[in-house]
Amino acid sequence: MTTFDIQAHQIELAGQSPGKILRAALAAFDNIALSFSGAEDVVLIDMALQIRPDMQIFSLDTGRLHPETYRFIEKVREHYGIKIECLSPNASEIADLVTNKGWFSFYNDGHQECCNLRKVEPLKGKLFTLDAWITGQRKDQSLETRQDLVEVEIDQAFSIPEQNLIKFNPLLNWSSRQVWDYIEAYALPYNSLHKQGFISIGCEPCTRAILPNQHERQGRWWWESEAKKECGLHAGNLK
Ligand code: ADX
Ligand code: SF4
Repeated sequence: MTTFDIQAHQIELAGQSPGKILRAALAAFDNIALSFSGAEDVVLIDMALQIRPDMQIFSLDTGRLHPETYRFIEKVREHYGIKIECLSPNASEIADLVTNKGWFSFYNDGHQECCNLRKVEPLKGKLFTLDAWITGQRKDQSLETRQDLVEVEIDQAFSIPEQNLIKFNPLLNWSSRQVWDYIEAYALPYNSLHKQGFISIGCEPCTRAILPNQHERQGRWWWESEAKKECGLHAGNLK
């Protein structure tokens, strides 16, 4: 990898379209992957495969996803004829947690412990092998934690002393409406839970449908304060 000039790229990509940000990301990095779980990520997959047909894509299987989400992942895999790398948590650590604290300990003592085992540790293992990654985060997904997103950043949560990890957020300035316009225009696959009032979808016990006037983040970890609603994948968003 040649040296990546983060400041120059931040200036060049500020306010640019998702396609332009993706092209810059893929031009700068060979060893880069896209993290996939939701509607936004399918838009990015659709755009990225047009630039790089063998784009690396991974998904964190926490073991607690909705059945509909597994079917959705499969639909995307078949739709594009692609491989989606599935990252699983450490089985014995999960067995210890569940044996000692039960299946729903997060309702009592917060989601961090479970998210750390089921999402953050597997993600860390994957990111350790990469130079850069791409996420589907948008600013308006959270008024508390995502307003300061930038197009490209040094991932403060997952960089190691020997090497910075670069993180691209090509959809940061898109609204949910723009994402859904794209999905509808190109007939992309989506999670059937969206037809049942779900907007932001994570694990089954920690996700619920919302009412039309509620913010999408209210459907995630609803028993916790807004400022804590990052599971650790994007810990750099927490101030
Ligand atoms: S979360 O941190 O609160 O769960 P959110 O659901 O908003 O994240 O999704 C934001 C982005 O994080 C997604 O567009 C995707 O890039 C990444 N992401 C979230 N969950 C997963 C997952 N299970 N596997 C892979 N990437 C994920
Ligand atoms: Fe565990 Fe809930 Fe976090 Fe999923 S979202 S890893 S079930 S605490």
